[in-house]
Amino acid sequence: MTHPDCKVVIGDSRRMTEVTGESVHLVVTSPPYPMVSIWDGLFDEVSATTYDLMHEYLNQTWREVARVLIQGGIACINIGDATRTRDGVFHLYPNHSRVIENFETMGFITLPYILWKKPTTKPHYKGKGAFLGSGFLPPNAYVTIDMEYVLIFRKGSPRTFPAKDPMRYKSRFSKKQRDEWFSQVWTVPGARQSITGVERRIASFPDEIPRRLISMFSILDDVVLDPFLGSGTTLKAAIGLGRGFVGYEKQTQMKDIIRERVGPQSRRVRFLEQAKEILTVVE
Ligand SMILES: C[S@@+](CC[C@H](N)C(=O)[O-])C[C@H]1O[C@@H](n2cnc3c(N)ncnc32)[C@H](O)[C@@H]1O
Repeated sequence: MTHPDCKVVIGDSRRMTEVTGESVHLVVTSPPYPMVSIWDGLFDEVSATTYDLMHEYLNQTWREVARVLIQGGIACINIGDATRTRDGVFHLYPNHSRVIENFETMGFITLPYILWKKPTTKPHYKGKGAFLGSGFLPPNAYVTIDMEYVLIFRKGSPRTFPAKDPMRYKSRFSKKQRDEWFSQVWTVPGARQSITGVERRIASFPDEIPRRLISMFSILDDVVLDPFLGSGTTLKAAIGLGRGFVGYEKQTQMKDIIRERVGPQSRRVRFLEQAKEILTVVE
């Protein structure tokens, strides 16, 4: 297997100046989820808990994704919906539908998405977490959010390849994998959040999610981008599958966690610091 270039930029993906236009084949990422309380701090600069502004923050990165993807390149976005009670009124924030609208506005083609079902044992009662002693009495319980979405978008028409392209053929998946991966509901347990402190809030996805997506939507030697890298799960999967990689992570302290996550293969990864002036986003 070849070892294509892998780099991680410690910096802000709203300006990916280190990545040239039309140089990325696949994006696999999980952004901070608007209106999910663990991420509120991250959105502070756009005014605490304003749903529209949080999506406008993400849109700046999505516009960069549109610039760096090749024609026919694919973006897979893992996101969950959120619920919150404000001034005593319950609200559902359907992040997945907002992201679809925003990608459509940028001209992407929306493909059928994946529903990632995470096994859970915690149904909810009147917005108060577990049912507790309320038992089995209708009608005030609501359905537990135990699904996340993997939204799939394509930039323009599908990629074309020469007949019998050797890299494409070497990247083939099995019938069993095809039958499982290309069905709409994936039941995959969430990642065990083993890291403590600030990093515990990273909410990493399990290795299986990026591994499947990279195998489904890219070929050997392609370049995969994760603009919200967190602990480095997508990087680890990309290296394991012989893909090139570029990742962005804003929190400097994640660098050691990424190294630890990737293990011995991290010696192949170049870590770059983004130039400070780039961090100032001009609206
Ligand atoms: C949901 S986590 C990603 C988790 C990741 N999939 C994993 O498995 O560890 C989102 C990450 O995006 C980072 N982030 C948020 N805004 C960013 C930005 N503008 N540029 C780069 N990274 C950003 C956060 O610091 C956080 O680590």
